[in-house]
Amino acid sequence: MKSESIKITVLEAAEIEKVLKIQMECNLTSWNYIDYLKAIQNDELVTLVAKTKKEINGFIVARLIINKDFNPILLKQKSSEKLGQTSYSPENEAEIYSFAIAKKYQNKGIGKQLFSKFKEMAKKNEIDLIWLEVRKSNINAIEFYKKNNFSQSYQRKNYYNNPTEDGIVMKLVL
Ligand SMILES: CC(C)(COP(=O)(O)OP(=O)(O)OC[C@H]1O[C@@H](n2cnc3c(N)ncnc32)[C@H](O)[C@@H]1OP(=O)(O)O)[C@@H](O)C(=O)NCCC(=O)NCCS
Repeated sequence: MKSESIKITVLEAAEIEKVLKIQMECNLTSWNYIDYLKAIQNDELVTLVAKTKKEINGFIVARLIINKDFNPILLKQKSSEKLGQTSYSPENEAEIYSFAIAKKYQNKGIGKQLFSKFKEMAKKNEIDLIWLEVRKSNINAIEFYKKNNFSQSYQRKNYYNNPTEDGIVMKLVL
């Protein structure tokens, strides 16, 4: 069923506990309360939540890595730095750190809507590429990302612990 009407907003401190529950339920690498609090205050991190009827049912945390010199939103922080040297990537990039939908809300199109909103924000920030890493065994997530036009870039051997497992690095060109 794909009829959920969802709202996507920026994560607030009062919502962190619910995000921690979803993170635990989905066995994701754990951030603690303070990590999320710092993330909310960090201009380079995007922290969005999806809600239905006021209940939080998913979240995404990503970092914007601005290498070019013209970003309209983060220009303030970067204007004093001299970019464009060969050591910088010619692309503005984003990296998804964490992304999950609570189990009872999965497969209802919420992840797709949340990711679309993030993609829209990334485009506004002139991001050229989105990167992420996923456990090799997480077929559901890999399929989701493929459906959202990510391609597999390379594999990092034994990247994950508990259990030890390769990481698949995936990329989306915007
Ligand atoms: C990956 C995840 C975020 C996807 O969110 P979701 O809300 O369940 O996904 P959606 O319902 O929006 O699915 C969107 C599309 O992906 C497809 N999809 C989702 N799960 C799939 C699966 N297991 N196999 C194949 N396709 C799948 C859907 O069919 C849908 O395609 P459609 O629009 O063409 O019908 C969610 O499953 C999740 O939280 N997983 C656990 C945490 C996790 O692994 N996070 C990623 C860590 S890198």
